[in-house]
Amino acid sequence: MDLGFEGRRAVIVGGSYGIGEASAEILLREGADVLIASRSRDNLRAASERLVAATGRAPAVFVADVVADAEAATELAAEARQRWGALDVLISAVGGSVRADFADLTDEDWLGSYHFNVLSTVRVVRAGVSLLEQGRAPAIVTLGAAAAKMPYAHQVMTNVHKAGLLGLVKTLALELGPKGIRINSVGPGRTKTSLWINRASRMAAERGVPIAEIFEEFSQEIPLKRFAEAPEVAVMVAWLASPLASYVTGQAINVDGGIARGLV
Ligand SMILES: NC(=O)c1ccc[n+]([C@@H]2O[C@H](COP(=O)([O-])OP(=O)(O)OC[C@H]3O[C@@H](n4cnc5c(N)ncnc54)[C@H](OP(=O)(O)O)[C@@H]3O)[C@@H](O)[C@H]2O)c1
Repeated sequence: MDLGFEGRRAVIVGGSYGIGEASAEILLREGADVLIASRSRDNLRAASERLVAATGRAPAVFVADVVADAEAATELAAEARQRWGALDVLISAVGGSVRADFADLTDEDWLGSYHFNVLSTVRVVRAGVSLLEQGRAPAIVTLGAAAAKMPYAHQVMTNVHKAGLLGLVKTLALELGPKGIRINSVGPGRTKTSLWINRASRMAAERGVPIAEIFEEFSQEIPLKRFAEAPEVAVMVAWLASPLASYVTGQAINVDGGIARGLV
């Protein structure tokens, strides 16, 4: 199926590995011009080499820490403006979760999670809107979490902040729709990226068991009985960003192996 990305211009923040990189791979394969951004020049360089090997096409790269640096998203947008003059696709894949009990979390922890998950997205979208207004069939995709629809125990900050992101996406769908810009969110379930590989390694070391045992344990409550691979999530990101989803906006769609048990 042709996703209609030929000649489209896409910025992917958090594109140096994980779901962001997997999304970049699909867009490059489909003919889009892609700019990936993250905090680390080394990670971006490594991602670029993998993407060239996988697709035969190179992304542009830009170093931007959209959490620690309040100006980074604006600088990234300026780079995209200079390169293309407009933008068709904006993907924000920055974020993550901490497993901890409510009683152990400090104000600092809460603010850190808010900055990582919500403010990062706010900054990226705010900086990109005027460029998207100049784009063709422009679309934004943010990364939420299945936890926004079915809160997990021991993960209260993600439950709260990813749910907040859904409010952001719904509100922006109202404000940006009249400008022709769509915005949607993808909610991954448990996905085998560095986020979970690092967590599972720590748990395995603490318990003195193989990492496979941790993945096995956390797969049990997933109806499909396994974690997702990043490309399985990225394919939904790409579809929502594509012109094929031309009448879809303000939606949060889970790719979670069925873990979120709820009717909506
Ligand atoms: N994996 C899961 O199981 C899962 C589950 C639910 C939701 N999600 C959500 O899906 C999204 C992507 O997750 P993932 O698993 O792909 O994460 P990941 O593997 O940790 O990748 C995160 C990406 O963001 C970049 N990044 C981190 N901090 C940044 C910052 N301050 N500024 C710019 N870039 C930054 C990282 O690159 P650098 O290190 O090079 O900066 C990397 O490219 C996140 O929003 C996450 O909350 C994931």
